[in-house]
Amino acid sequence: MWRRVNPLSPWISSFKSSIVKQQVSKSKIWETFTTGIPLQEEGGTLSECRTPFITFVLGGPGSGKGTQCEKIVETFGFKHLSAGDLLRREIVSHSQYGSMILNTIREGRIVPSEVTIKLIQREIEASDNDKILIDGFPRTEENRIAFEQIIGTEPDVVLFFDCPEEEMVKRVLSRNQGRIDDNIDTMKKRLKVFTALCLPVIDYYADKGKLHKIRAVGTVDEVFEQVRPIFTPYEESEQLISLGE
Ligand code: ADP
Ligand code: C5P
Ligand code: MG
Repeated sequence: MWRRVNPLSPWISSFKSSIVKQQVSKSKIWETFTTGIPLQEEGGTLSECRTPFITFVLGGPGSGKGTQCEKIVETFGFKHLSAGDLLRREIVSHSQYGSMILNTIREGRIVPSEVTIKLIQREIEASDNDKILIDGFPRTEENRIAFEQIIGTEPDVVLFFDCPEEEMVKRVLSRNQGRIDDNIDTMKKRLKVFTALCLPVIDYYADKGKLHKIRAVGTVDEVFEQVRPIFTPYEESEQLISLGE
């Protein structure tokens, strides 16, 4: 029921101009990456189509984004796309960008938007889920603007997990997943990048009224209890629609 694509579904953004679900061949869609220009139909206007309900998940390194995304997936049935995980997957698959991505992550810097968005778009297109969580993206204003230009849409909801730096450092240094960037030197750089480049993105969405700021301290369940009410109204609307009310 949750994954159903219902034209009346509250999880589906209203009819927007977008290339995400356009009925065109994939090869044509890929052309948009090389040009950076949204795909246009012959008449010159973007086609009207439905796009998924997109949630951006922001917060500093170790603020608990991935952990909370797992809870959102379990509870609300979203598809979870972690930009960091997609980039790490490129490294191990020895893609053409692998060594550039590895060096960038090791230094705590940000991978060029075109590369990251290409990975995200590939996943959105491969999924039939109408609710997408994009975790760790956009990290910069450049990421944000490029997403809007290439994908042609904005997020419906933006979550910001607000966590004190000391807590983020403690969590990252005990994460123990063998990550090349989970060390004190890289962590210091990541925190600087977060403050300089990601906070402006957070401010941007606050100004647009899309930001939900969550205090990311306490147990995982306590933090999730702040997240739950953000999505519950959409779920309730979906249930009413299903009942034909
Ligand atoms: P992010 O994706 O934001 O970098 P993670 O979800 O990977 O953060 O969490 C970083 C580390 O902190 C993980 O080891 C995770 O188990 C732990 N963690 C996540 N949320 C909490 C929390 N509320 N309290 C304590 N530890 C947490
Ligand atoms: O989100 P996560 O902690 O997994 O990201 C790890 C690293 O991946 C970041 O520090 C950054 O180097 C890179 N990254 C990026 N652009 C993004 C997301 C992550 O360059 N949008
Ligand atoms: Mg993460």
